Amino acid sequence: EKGGHDYFMLKEIEEQPEALSNTLRGHFADGGVVLDEQRISEQDLRDINKVFVVACGTAYHSGLLAKYAIEHWCRIPVEVELASEFRYRDPVLGRDTLVVAISQSGETADTLEAVRHARTQHARVLAISNTNGSQIPRESDAVLYTHAGPEIGVAATKTFLAQIAANYLVGLALAQARGTKYTDELEHEFSELAAMPEAVRSVLETVPQVRELATRMCDAKAVLFLGRHVGYPVALEGALKLKELAYMHAEGFAAGELKHGPIALIEDGLPVVVQMPSAKGHSQLHAKLLSNIREIQARGARTVVIAEEGDEAVRPFADELIEIPAVPTLLQPLVSTVPLQVLAAEIARHRGYDVDKPRNLAKSVTVE
Ligand code: M6R
Repeated sequence: EKGGHDYFMLKEIEEQPEALSNTLRGHFADGGVVLDEQRISEQDLRDINKVFVVACGTAYHSGLLAKYAIEHWCRIPVEVELASEFRYRDPVLGRDTLVVAISQSGETADTLEAVRHARTQHARVLAISNTNGSQIPRESDAVLYTHAGPEIGVAATKTFLAQIAANYLVGLALAQARGTKYTDELEHEFSELAAMPEAVRSVLETVPQVRELATRMCDAKAVLFLGRHVGYPVALEGALKLKELAYMHAEGFAAGELKHGPIALIEDGLPVVVQMPSAKGHSQLHAKLLSNIREIQARGARTVVIAEEGDEAVRPFADELIEIPAVPTLLQPLVSTVPLQVLAAEIARHRGYDVDKPRNLAKSVTVE
């Protein structure tokens, strides 16, 4: 049942192209986004002037990405918050607020309580979940189901990529309702999303390279992850995967913060995994990251660089280079996360741990 793989997680990583295409299929028709359940009126959707995204763990990282897309496409301010923090600080909510609750299981206690709190304050709630009929969708006003299929590994992989796609669909739905994008623009954005399963299929070709790299990284004391813009949530996700599976000290940082503290951690041989923005798509940030890499390498870090194919400028500073296909900036996390998932799983395996059932963790966290 593991499809010839040593553990479920690797199978699930390889299922990501299907998870994405199944999630996209049926959610876009006649130039617009189709939700699975929709009890928010067109008028109310148009009046939304503030979005909160609430989630935990990996789902929270996907939520951080929702902010980039929704603010860019819809011009609505978006705040992304850990569900466990949300209701304890008395957030400002009302009828014009949309709360997007993201939960693979649909049963996470903190996310469910955040939804309940939002509803007592008359906010509209839209759930993104991979589990039909689970509690969070049942208590929400609108639902978009990801169709990633069942995920056995405790670590979220294919559901994460499906959540990113779902978040972007919600962004397009809001843009459509508010009229900030024309139908042809919506269709264009959707067609770029629809090309991603193929791009993920091609990034899966790096699996053997990353597995080999893992054999050389499994004795590291710690690993740092750096990124900027959409690469920042990916850095956080890479670090979370390594913590939960390989029980290693791992931290994700926004690369711009290096000089404000984290650079003091750099020492000889410390692996630092860097998410490189596209040189064409984001040339300013590309230049900034390049100088960060140069700096940390000069201080002895071992640089593991995830960069777009054809990024020649980064080569001299990459002790290890993992190439990913060129895709639009907002969509880069869908390809750049994949090597980090494989890296964490394989390091865990080499350290002798159960990749699918890491210690102390449950697939669904139903207590606060
Ligand atoms: O079921 P949910 O999406 O609500 O779960 C949220 C987190 O518990 C989950 O993403 C957790 O962080 C994963 N084990 C990470 O791989």
